[in-house]
Amino acid sequence: MSGEEAAAATQFVDWDQLRTAAKDASQHAYAPYSAFPVGAAALVDDGRVVTGCNVENASYGLGLCAECGLVSALHASGGGRLVALACVDGSGVVLMPCGRCRQLLWEHGGAECLIDTPSGILPMSALLPQAFGPEDLARDRHES
Ligand code: THU
Repeated sequence: MSGEEAAAATQFVDWDQLRTAAKDASQHAYAPYSAFPVGAAALVDDGRVVTGCNVENASYGLGLCAECGLVSALHASGGGRLVALACVDGSGVVLMPCGRCRQLLWEHGGAECLIDTPSGILPMSALLPQAFGPEDLARDRHES
């Protein structure tokens, strides 16, 4: 997606709604170890909005990011593709999805999914250039 195409696509997204839904979701976070609640909200290609919050664990490495919960909510509520996403801290400040979550979002939204960032609205292709994805697993990839 070119910069111009991304700019055109972003006009159809109610970013204030997504940021508000993400902040609301952060209020449900379980983050007793980091004390850093996170919420995420995304528009799905059928118009639904799905949300998630981070859920930590006494075994620290098992903590789930807000985006993990969001992807689970996506599938639990009927599936579809992520079109646009906002992720915020407990005060509503926009956060960049962590590296692992960028890969997760790529799987369910692809290169053109729009992300709210401190530098403006950017497509996933800008957050995860030359991404590894489902198409790399094509069965005939190494045949010739
Ligand atoms: N966190 C998220 O939920 N999403 C991100 O993209 C970045 C980090 C959470 C994980 C952990 O519970 C807390 O923020 C502090 O790292």
